[in-house]
Amino acid sequence: MTALHHPPFQRLYINIDHVATIRQARRTDEPDPVAAALACEGAGAHGITAHLREDRRHIQDDDVTRLAASVQTVFNLEMACTEEMLTIAERLRPYQVTFVPERREEVTTEGGLNVTHAPDLLARAIERMRNAGIRSSLFIDPSPVMVEQSRALGADAIELHTGRYAHHPDDPAQLDALASAAALAHARGLHVHAGHGLTVRNVTAVAAIPEIEELNIGHSIVSRAVFVGIAVAVVEMRDAMDRARSALHT
Ligand code: PXP
Repeated sequence: MTALHHPPFQRLYINIDHVATIRQARRTDEPDPVAAALACEGAGAHGITAHLREDRRHIQDDDVTRLAASVQTVFNLEMACTEEMLTIAERLRPYQVTFVPERREEVTTEGGLNVTHAPDLLARAIERMRNAGIRSSLFIDPSPVMVEQSRALGADAIELHTGRYAHHPDDPAQLDALASAAALAHARGLHVHAGHGLTVRNVTAVAAIPEIEELNIGHSIVSRAVFVGIAVAVVEMRDAMDRARSALHT
């Protein structure tokens, strides 16, 4: 297996669930996550991510249908590995699905997917997505076991859970875990993504991990958008990522 080349820049995908969370607080039609997605693209985002949860607490079915039709960059549909979601993905044909664990009582996705649990189910789901022309990414904790198993299941990509690093940015062990999982995944021919809890302040160290091609960032960008607008919030994040990346090449 030949390792993939390190990408020259890192892609920023915006997770727009948080826009839908504000709308659902009033069950009205604003703010519209699709309009937010288009504004993010206009400001330089490379992709749009949305998580259709089983309980539909933020993103709704109509949102993902409209996103699949409107996104001009690429649409990354986050979802649990269930029959209902697989059928929706086959209908919408997003560029990519990211399989995530889902627990009804959680506030947000709390940990990575345990890809050693029910491996046949996951492998069949990845195969189904591949047959529909959709690439599959697995949201996992940064551990060698999870990386090796993701490769064995036939995933195209992994998304490394950066939550623990985001909570403990000064603990070198958290960053080391991300860097070594990224290097291992890259050596195994997997595309490497990362996300969760990243902000303009803590993104620098993650953006500087050379194997990481894509970051999925939502909450901090939508929070910042309250003060400066979503376009400026996207530009600020891209600047922080690009600065970290260019430092790598000088
Ligand atoms: N990646 C995955 C798989 C997620 O579930 C989330 C949470 O929405 C994110 C990235 C983005 O995390 P945050 O909203 O903390 O930036």
